Amino acid sequence: MDKFVIQGGARLEGQIATSGAKNSALPALAACLLTEEPVKLMRIPRVRDIRTMEKLLNHTGAQVDIQGGQVLVTSGRVARPEAPYDLVKTMRASSLVLGPLVARTGRARVSMPGGCAIGSRPINLHVAALELLGAQVTQSHGYVEAVAPDGLRGATVTFDRITVTGTEDVLMAAVLARGDTIIENAAREPEVGDLADLLAKMGAKIEGAGSSTIRVQGVGRLHGATHTIIADRIEAGTFLCAGAMTGGDLLITGCIPEHLRALIGKLQHAGADISEEPPDALRVRGGKLRAVDMTTEEYPGFATDLQAQYMSAMTQAEGISFITETIFENRFMHAQELMRMGANIRIEGRQAVVAGRTELTGSPVIASDLRASASLVLAALVARGETVIDRVYHIDRGYEKIETKLAQAGASIQRVT
Ligand code: EPU
Repeated sequence: MDKFVIQGGARLEGQIATSGAKNSALPALAACLLTEEPVKLMRIPRVRDIRTMEKLLNHTGAQVDIQGGQVLVTSGRVARPEAPYDLVKTMRASSLVLGPLVARTGRARVSMPGGCAIGSRPINLHVAALELLGAQVTQSHGYVEAVAPDGLRGATVTFDRITVTGTEDVLMAAVLARGDTIIENAAREPEVGDLADLLAKMGAKIEGAGSSTIRVQGVGRLHGATHTIIADRIEAGTFLCAGAMTGGDLLITGCIPEHLRALIGKLQHAGADISEEPPDALRVRGGKLRAVDMTTEEYPGFATDLQAQYMSAMTQAEGISFITETIFENRFMHAQELMRMGANIRIEGRQAVVAGRTELTGSPVIASDLRASASLVLAALVARGETVIDRVYHIDRGYEKIETKLAQAGASIQRVT
């Protein structure tokens, strides 16, 4: 198992380029199942979750040709409309194939995602929405099976709570359903908008993606298309935290500042100097930071996927910050590891109380999930001495060459196998 060995103390300087968004690329790959024609996707990040989704597409019978960040998917005939346990257990987003498979073939069988390090991760809202579209759904032996022998029909779906992949799943089902679908209380995350853009290029009729009400007019078939995935706002946000914490001067290129408003606001309030460098870069210069409270929310609020990284930054800020996690029930696993490095954090239910500034010292730590690992990398960058991060396969799920990118900006970080 790979580890990262990081020597702390370097200021990050120079440029770091943003990759395509993992959480946009995953639904985009799933959407390729909606047509028998080839779909070409560009700026696909080469990370482990993407390889898992590509394997899943292969399993259904699709052909997947990968050339660097360009992936061509041809789903000529769907031989096996299913997502087996082996693939779902490593990536809960496998449930994204449920909607497209049932829409395309009238049948889908997807292993139930279990809980994970950040919470229970049920898919009941995906299932309820597909039932409204006319799918008959049964659950047994750890699998969700959906059938719609006569195809899906449009309906009004009002989500009980906002779900990102749930919105994406039902959107992909609705585009091939007979009649109109209205999705209410839809997720407004930029990744939903990116998926809608791809689907529109494939011939879907969608209005309102990016708002809480999405209207879909079902069409009989979709065709091939070419689409470039948007920039990964979580990766760019991770680098923003890195620049702010290390007192560096970092230019983060190829990102979409608009998607990072909540984080930028918090870091600026904390004292970081952040400016936009049009058309698509952000410059961050760190200085003395002060504590600023933060609560995670659905987009356009502060992303839960940046909560761990922000917590690392707050260990370097003067004063007490209250960090409240509202999206997942168990997303503070990094706090324990940060404390091993010297951070002063108290967890009270869904709130973490961080008292700073504390000097962190290099220690052996263990990555527990994707974003938790990123927060440990950030902490290691400012810690005195050497930090060894074990189980970096978690970070490889979602960050493309993070060690190379950080090293280019002056960090001392090495992968050891
Ligand atoms: N929820 C339910 N039932 C459902 C679906 C969700 O109760 O059927 C609950 C969840 O348990 C959670 C909340 O609703 O408490 C929101 O979950 P959501 O469905 O929005 O999360 P997701 O779609 O499974 C995506 C991202 C996550 C990100 C969340 C929240 C992808 C592939 N994953 O997950 O990304 O944290 O939205 O923004 O898009 C990551 O990249 O590290 C990651 C975990």
